Amino acid sequence: MMHKFLIEGENRLLGEVEISGSKNAALPILAATLLSAETHVLQNVPQLADIETMSSLLRYLGCIVTRENDTLLIDARAISHVEATYDIVRKMRASTLVLGPLVARFGRGRVSLPGGCAIGARPIDLHLKGLEALGATICLEHGYVDVVAPANGLVGNRIILDMPSVGATEHLMTTATLAKGTTVIENAAREPEIVELANVLIGMGAKVSGAGTSQITIEGVEHLGQMRTAIRPDRIESGTFIAAAAITGGDVLLKQVSLKDLESVIQHFGYAGCELQPQGEVSSSGLCDLRIRAPKKLRACDIKTAPFPGFATDMQAQWMACMTLASGTSHIEENIFENRFMHVSELMRMGAQIELHGNLAIVKGVERLSGAPVMATDLRASASLVLAALAAQGQTEILRIYHLDRGYVALEKKLNALGAKVLRQEV
Ligand code: UD1
Repeated sequence: MMHKFLIEGENRLLGEVEISGSKNAALPILAATLLSAETHVLQNVPQLADIETMSSLLRYLGCIVTRENDTLLIDARAISHVEATYDIVRKMRASTLVLGPLVARFGRGRVSLPGGCAIGARPIDLHLKGLEALGATICLEHGYVDVVAPANGLVGNRIILDMPSVGATEHLMTTATLAKGTTVIENAAREPEIVELANVLIGMGAKVSGAGTSQITIEGVEHLGQMRTAIRPDRIESGTFIAAAAITGGDVLLKQVSLKDLESVIQHFGYAGCELQPQGEVSSSGLCDLRIRAPKKLRACDIKTAPFPGFATDMQAQWMACMTLASGTSHIEENIFENRFMHVSELMRMGAQIELHGNLAIVKGVERLSGAPVMATDLRASASLVLAALAAQGQTEILRIYHLDRGYVALEKKLNALGAKVLRQEV
């Protein structure tokens, strides 16, 4: 069933919001359950289309996956297939993350080449080069990647990534836990999701050190045990609600978020004139409430997307929505993905003034946006349209919101509880 949003703008957001578990942390963790023949327990797993896609993939491979609210039980004892077909993989790029664990445990994995958000070419060459460095043989044909381990299993190696790819770091770190000997990943990504995955792997008995730095060392072990974890809060959902408060001049309390993961976002919304204050105690896992109070009008402020701890590319579109209504002109530079400005033309249909020069967007703040029919294109681009609609005069119709359902749990419910007027309708 296709849905659309109808959003009545110009409502200040006020109140409290609960943040769901992180999609991007959960996906590689779900793939890592394949490493060991156990029944794994994952709590705080967000109920999202992408998570459903990964669960279906695990089921297809032979896992028994059961969900009770936000808890997933994954019985990975009896794997019947080591192959993922196009039907599953085309929906989500992160499907490729099952490849390494399959090869590590069963000696072979075969997946169709991925689909996912249409933001640039997004190859998986770094993943494949890394698997090759661990001794695997790679064969690309008929749109499939076939990866086979040597007879005696994968062997640890030194892998230097050409760029700090989040997915490749996760994939290779996970795979190397069962390789013989030591693997060192150089120029590793340092995103919080890497640290979370490393801790989960360590909990299963893996020997991983250095996650969160650009050098990760993995000592291979024979077997891994059961996984038991609770997924940490989604930093991009947190950032999106900060942006929603900011663009509506609101006052919102985000419950239990990870401040460490949000530093750059908090800093920039501070520059833009918002007051962001942690509230109450910080829990043993580093979570606390965060209050954001936004001014009537934001100040323009430049950003450049960069690997963590820099400003996240997954927050670029939401930032741009906020800047369309700020006082002054801001420069927004996208350095991670090519072609990640698909929200620009839609924002302009709502009255935004934006010039594009390659990977640089120059946004001149305007007095007001006006509601218009727009089209969601990728996950975060869609979020930026929702934000713009929350602040725009009149009604905005957003088509193709299945993109939003891939990454935001109950977005309209959470926004409406804060005073927004968002209606989901079938089309
Ligand atoms: C992950 C996130 C995504 C986020 C991105 C960057 C998940 C499920 N997705 O995506 O939301 O926007 O990190 O923070 O966690 N690249 C190659 N070859 C490869 C792999 C990547 O050239 O083999 C390039 C990509 O095209 C891109 C850059 O490296 O230009 C960064 O991509 P990467 O960090 O791998 O992103 P993902 O892991 O796909």
